[in-house]
Amino acid sequence: MMLFSRRRIWLLIFAAILFFFYRSFQSLNSAGPVPPIPASFRWSSFKFHHPVTSMHQLPTGKPLALPRVQNTFGTESASQRTLRLTRQKAVKDAFQRCWNSYRDRAWMSDELTPVTGEHVNTFGGWGATLVDSLDTLWIMGLRAEFDEAVAAASNISFEISSLPESTTREINVFETNIRYLGGFLAAYDLSNDDRLLKKAIEVGNMLYVAFDTPNRMPITRWKPHAAARGKKQLADEHVLLAEIGSFSLEFIRLSLLTGDPKWYDAVQRIMDLLQKQQQKSKLPGMWPVVVNARAKDFTQHKDYTLGAMADSLYEYLPKTYALAGGLLPMYKDMYKASMETAIRYNLFRPMLPDEKDVLISGMVILNTDRGETVAQIRPEGQHLVCFAGGMLALGGRLIQNQTHVEKGEKLTDGCVWAYQAMPFGIMPETFYMLPCESAEHCPWDESKWRQGVARIAGLDSNKAAPAKIEALIARKRLPKGFTHIPDTRYILRPEAIESVFILYRITGRPDLLESAWAMWEAIDSNTRTELANSALGDVTLTEGKPEKSDSMESFWLGETLKYFYLIFSEPGLISLDEYVFNTEAHPLKRLLP
Ligand SMILES: *[C@@H]1O[C@H](CO)[C@@H](O)[C@H](O)[C@H]1NC(C)=O
Ligand SMILES: *[C@@H]1O[C@H](CO)[C@@H](O)[C@H](O)[C@H]1NC(C)=O
Repeated sequence: MMLFSRRRIWLLIFAAILFFFYRSFQSLNSAGPVPPIPASFRWSSFKFHHPVTSMHQLPTGKPLALPRVQNTFGTESASQRTLRLTRQKAVKDAFQRCWNSYRDRAWMSDELTPVTGEHVNTFGGWGATLVDSLDTLWIMGLRAEFDEAVAAASNISFEISSLPESTTREINVFETNIRYLGGFLAAYDLSNDDRLLKKAIEVGNMLYVAFDTPNRMPITRWKPHAAARGKKQLADEHVLLAEIGSFSLEFIRLSLLTGDPKWYDAVQRIMDLLQKQQQKSKLPGMWPVVVNARAKDFTQHKDYTLGAMADSLYEYLPKTYALAGGLLPMYKDMYKASMETAIRYNLFRPMLPDEKDVLISGMVILNTDRGETVAQIRPEGQHLVCFAGGMLALGGRLIQNQTHVEKGEKLTDGCVWAYQAMPFGIMPETFYMLPCESAEHCPWDESKWRQGVARIAGLDSNKAAPAKIEALIARKRLPKGFTHIPDTRYILRPEAIESVFILYRITGRPDLLESAWAMWEAIDSNTRTELANSALGDVTLTEGKPEKSDSMESFWLGETLKYFYLIFSEPGLISLDEYVFNTEAHPLKRLLP
């Protein structure tokens, strides 16, 4: 393909050289001494370029009595209780082993490396594992460890003078919000220890500066030092939906606890826009994965999913409705409208060898073909999207729609199925399956499955030799039902047990306890190291053991182990009628009548 004539090419080269000189000149200019930030600088007294002139005020009024979420559990038998407590103890033992190793070898850093026993800073260097684990320590009744951890955590400073320039050149505002702010708020809600609220306010004051842009849309990948020096900020044109849309639980809780409406105001400006544009996107009811914060446009891109990069925006809609005691009905409306669309377009029934009736949530891609918009489903399952079953079950209870609860059950069953179908009993990060033509009638057809495998590998599914397809299936180690496994890792993620836990609390289905235990045994036995537990490189292996990749993200202690512990606890411990979990599994208190 000829894109440029020869003359144009010379022009382009000339322009490139000019640009190069211009950039070097620019960087020479900016390489001068940077003005130091005074040690007395505090985020709380930041001089805003774009202060808010009319502030949204927190809702007043008496919280509503929302419909009951949890199942009414009867009394358990003595043997059920013994079994449950044995399982609960196994989870707690694993937590303590990991915690002690973190404490001995990686104290105050973000993560322990579970194979080599070193430490790494991956989330700003403020002790992500420490802060993420505070509420788990409390919930597991580890009071001495909790007290020690709170004393250490209250020593972490989020003020600029304590931020090492090297580790905080740019921070992820979303991750800082869900892990640190969420972690402090939940630990405060459980313990009422004022030192924790003080830390939450400090993180909140820092993050609030990322919202100091002309249109008050936040910068999601944010440079705190530049901001502290007074550099003017502009929201980005390409922002991930989840990263701009998942502030409501933490920010509203912080405003409710402090009485200061500024965080509530900050998040409402985003949510008001999302609501206004909800029916204007290419897939009305949902928003695309990438949005334009600078232009305040949440409608343009073509990919729509409940999965990675969008997920927690949807998750936060019913949960914020519950957190605010029903006083913010817009969250309920947005939840209903988005699920109307997602249930219709994103969920599909996969063709499985045992013909089990489950659902998977895929991505809808909208392309334009000769002026017409065509919706296509990419039948990709993800470990991340396994949260959706729990969300729909919870949302269904809150808005009293049994269809949501049923879809949530089938989605959760789909995740359990994917765990059980893999050789080690652990689901990979991502996989593809074959959608059935009908959700009601879905007979297993082995030749269709083989054709699906061939098609996704780019072969002509009608002409490819059977032996070639057979070799492909063997090489990719595809269990029947899977057509492709692009990402074979398991990185200690929580989403599957999260939904199993929520669904159990909502329905009381006893088989979920057995599924949870099978998942636990598979995960713990394969990820366990001398010190802790490690992410795995490839869970599709059919021989030997999956290789450990020496990583243990803070969500293992903050989320995965917490959900495993809670499903084997008494159902009154962190009842879903009193708390909502943020997307890092930090339970925040709901407003109750
Ligand atoms: C808090 O920080 C100070 C100064 O860095 C240190 O001496 C002290 O031991 C820390 N306290 C805790 C509980 O970690
Ligand atoms: C329940 O949810 C489904 C799916 O979004 C929707 O089609 C149905 O109308 C809802 N039912 C009620 C009674 O609102």
